[in-house]
Amino acid sequence: MCMTAMLPPSGVAKTVLMGGSAKIGEWLIFSPTHSLLERSSSLFYQQLYKKTDVALFSQKSRDEDGSAPIEQKIDPEPKKKRQLCSLVSPKLIGWTNISAEAILKEKDDVVERTMAESGVEPGGKYQTKECQSRSKIAIVVPLRNRTEHLQVFLRYMHPFLQRQQLDYAIIVAEQTEGSLFNRGALMNVGFKEAQLLDNFQCFFFHDVDNLPENDGNPYSCPEDGKPRHMTFSLSRWNNYKPFPGWYFGGVTALTANDFRKINGFSNVYWGWGGEDDDLLRRIRFHKMTPTRAMDGYPSLIEMARYKTLTHKKAEPSPIRHKLLREGTKRLKSDGLKDLTYKKLALELKPLYTKVLVELQQPANRKAPGQH
Ligand code: BGC
Repeated sequence: MCMTAMLPPSGVAKTVLMGGSAKIGEWLIFSPTHSLLERSSSLFYQQLYKKTDVALFSQKSRDEDGSAPIEQKIDPEPKKKRQLCSLVSPKLIGWTNISAEAILKEKDDVVERTMAESGVEPGGKYQTKECQSRSKIAIVVPLRNRTEHLQVFLRYMHPFLQRQQLDYAIIVAEQTEGSLFNRGALMNVGFKEAQLLDNFQCFFFHDVDNLPENDGNPYSCPEDGKPRHMTFSLSRWNNYKPFPGWYFGGVTALTANDFRKINGFSNVYWGWGGEDDDLLRRIRFHKMTPTRAMDGYPSLIEMARYKTLTHKKAEPSPIRHKLLREGTKRLKSDGLKDLTYKKLALELKPLYTKVLVELQQPANRKAPGQH
């Protein structure tokens, strides 16, 4: 199958759909040949958030051949059954040249107002207006001391996810000081807290400093049994050199069922590294198949590229390899089942849900010299 999906506003870029038999929840792949946004940082923010004919927030779309804009009706009664969104969103724009500097230029109140007008609700929740979304996802972001990165992330990701016509919420699990950072446990916290908020089909466990560069990189739910590693390559890692198959960090997507089945992330990795390797082992142990966004389309794999925001690299945990070797022994107990945390706050911020937690680092999980 090969068909033209849409022509974005000015008609300068053509998006081509390719693929075999499309199933619900499955994405078809876009050709990465176009670049709709100009590659000038000063224009970047403006185009990302404000230019209505890019249809980021507008309710206008194009008809199939792109020749004329058509009005998509907003259902006045949200409970009425709406038409399922098309397999490929007509709002996609392709590659973006991300500039954190340009993104940060805008004032908070302006961004919050624009986002609210686009439909972002307190807690960073969004429901696609034009049609019934095919995926309801939760984005879980583990955090500590990365305020500026979070700001860039939220300002970039909301329009990105909206262009994919997803229903979503962004949940930030923040760890207080006093213990080493525990990425795995924070992901588990985000998962548990998200379940109390809504019924999400799947979860994207997302580093705050990884930004997807092409909105053809699907944030749709993966199939059960097929967790998806989203991060094919990173700007920081040898200038987009593809990651080897053993790497499962950065951004990963699992259905809620699968995440429960594998008992979530391990909670024992304090400090940098290991918890993502452990997650992959859990997935394999449960005979699930790790997949990548563009599996089957090697020429399009580049679309799963991520831009990294810069920061000082943390000190790797010296005991992570040992913990990893003993991982299977702990599988059943260590994870969602034995997760403990002290919830200090749950706040519905304009662009995200914040869960502030204190995690207790047991003395026997400290490496020699760790405090
Ligand atoms: C660490 C992982 C990390 C990977 C790539 C491994 O040694 O254990 O946590 O994702 O290196 O940096």
